[in-house]
Amino acid sequence: MSTAVAGRGLEGIVAANSGICWIDGEAGILSYRGIDIHELAVHSTFEETTYLLWNGRLPSEAELTEFTAQLAKSRVLDPAIITLLKSFPATATPMEVLRTAVSALSMYDADEKDNLHDANVRKSFRLTSQVGMIVAIYDRLRKGLNVVEPDPALNHAANFLWMLNGEKPSETASKTLDVALILHADHELNASTFAARVIAATLSDIHSAVTGAIGALKGPLHGGANEAVMRLLFEIDKQGADPVAFVSAMLAAKKKISGFGHRVYKTEDPRATHLRSMSEQLSKDSGVTRWYDWSRQIELYVNAQKGLNANVDFYSASTYTTLGIDVDLFTPIFAVSRIAGWAAHVIEQLDDNRLIRPRAEYIGPAYPAPYVAVEERG
Ligand code: COA
Repeated sequence: MSTAVAGRGLEGIVAANSGICWIDGEAGILSYRGIDIHELAVHSTFEETTYLLWNGRLPSEAELTEFTAQLAKSRVLDPAIITLLKSFPATATPMEVLRTAVSALSMYDADEKDNLHDANVRKSFRLTSQVGMIVAIYDRLRKGLNVVEPDPALNHAANFLWMLNGEKPSETASKTLDVALILHADHELNASTFAARVIAATLSDIHSAVTGAIGALKGPLHGGANEAVMRLLFEIDKQGADPVAFVSAMLAAKKKISGFGHRVYKTEDPRATHLRSMSEQLSKDSGVTRWYDWSRQIELYVNAQKGLNANVDFYSASTYTTLGIDVDLFTPIFAVSRIAGWAAHVIEQLDDNRLIRPRAEYIGPAYPAPYVAVEERG
């Protein structure tokens, strides 16, 4: 058997067949089930996009109504999960809490032991609704606020903002979040989705796969980058620094600028196009212009200096901040959306499963290395 080494970080390696998401990194095209992300961002909703990801086609009106109702009905958390959320130390971050709570959800799921297709779809409905609930409820609990009951009349995005803030969101806020959720819902074999598929392929369960995926998403090279972008903007603000000079010094020190670069896109990330324009619009509407303005200045500079493009995380930072969302909720909100893609990939993996078990090119001491008795080791 050949053991040719893959590119570092598996760059360029095609590791699965999938009918869910197609990306052309050279042309900057992203599509879900063949439909261009620009079409979905303008015309779809998170619910419809999730249906598309799970079922391979757009729903009829009746199917969409039924699907939306099913998601709303799934907004039920076992009281034991609320008790668990109350038990975490004050130092717990929302991402750690989400990872742990999602793991715990399986113990309260009626389909826990059933790994067949229909059970995984049922679990996917519950997980999709409950990830959002956990993020919103934990944020209120840590602030000493009451838990807000879900509102079945609201869509996924609006219900999340309602449960987070305890007040009905504006049209603009729910629409902005809904579009952000569409844009984040899937992205082929990104690190967290690949992790989810690897876990699912052992015939473990969807909760384990999603728990692992959340762990992968948390890292600053993946979903954690949106929080890092905002912390950078806050630091510029705190120091009263010039954004371009600040970033220029970082580049000179060989530091990476979060929110730039991508393994697959060699041109503009099509998701950034929408997030940039939403960030700009919110900045005009709110009168708080510095986050967008500084982001734009940084983007133009980094692009000119390094040829790097803003990715999905760059403008989600200023977008979410202008919506009044706390920084450490940014990556959890990525998960509130990406759960749709993780579920689609786990279901697809299990519908035609084979264990995912690659090989490593061995670069350790030559075989056979001698076993030296402990008293004879130097
Ligand atoms: N800032 C500055 N330089 C960057 C950079 C960034 N954000 N992203 C990549 N580069 C540079 C690297 O330093 C490297 O330069 P070199 O060849 O001179 O050493 C080159 O571009 C290739 O980068 P590399 O890290 O090898 O690319 P990758 O495909 O392994 O990584 C990312 C892709 C996304 C992890 C990387 O671009 C990155 O770390 N970005 C910041 C984190 C981020 O925004 N993540 C969210 C991704 S959606």
